[in-house]
Amino acid sequence: TNRDLSTLILDRIRDVPDYPKPGVLFKDISPLLADHEVFAAVVDALAGSEPVDKIVGIEARGFILAAPVAYRAGAGFVPVRKKGKLPSETLEESYDLEYGSATIEVHRDAFTKGDRVLIVDDVLATGGTAEAAVELVRRAGAEVVGLGILMELAFLKGRERLPGVDVRSLVIV
Ligand code: PRP
Repeated sequence: TNRDLSTLILDRIRDVPDYPKPGVLFKDISPLLADHEVFAAVVDALAGSEPVDKIVGIEARGFILAAPVAYRAGAGFVPVRKKGKLPSETLEESYDLEYGSATIEVHRDAFTKGDRVLIVDDVLATGGTAEAAVELVRRAGAEVVGLGILMELAFLKGRERLPGVDVRSLVIV
């Protein structure tokens, strides 16, 4: 059941205090990825059962989940990367960080018009990354059918930045 899966997930996410800087409690998914049964259950749950054309993965940890989800869902994989990493023509979106801003990109020709897209990432925190990824997919001519998230940090209210997006989090803490 979902409840059992949440328990398994929570059990295999390690909290690392003061990483990458003092005061931040880092959610390390390495133990989960190293457990083949939990990793497989997570991939199956994120893939869901509705038909989609493309799975978008967000660099870098999102890639680890999104690629097997694409395989499982019978869909193509599209990378959303940090600025400067994609070789061909791109669309870009910037979003605010605690200090400064970040920019992510997708290839302009990544989608066929009207593609049904599921975006996958490991953590939803402030929602800035996900909001920018949704915007990129839409600007590139595709439809966002959902956002699949392993772990949502509810106290950061990222979901509020994503009105109209079907946010599917496997665990909410
Ligand atoms: C983390 C995480 C999400 C994002 C969530 O990525 O994997 O993509 O932050 O934060 P937000 O909701 O506040 O935008 P990070 O930028 O650390 O990149 P990485 O996976 O390459 O380490």
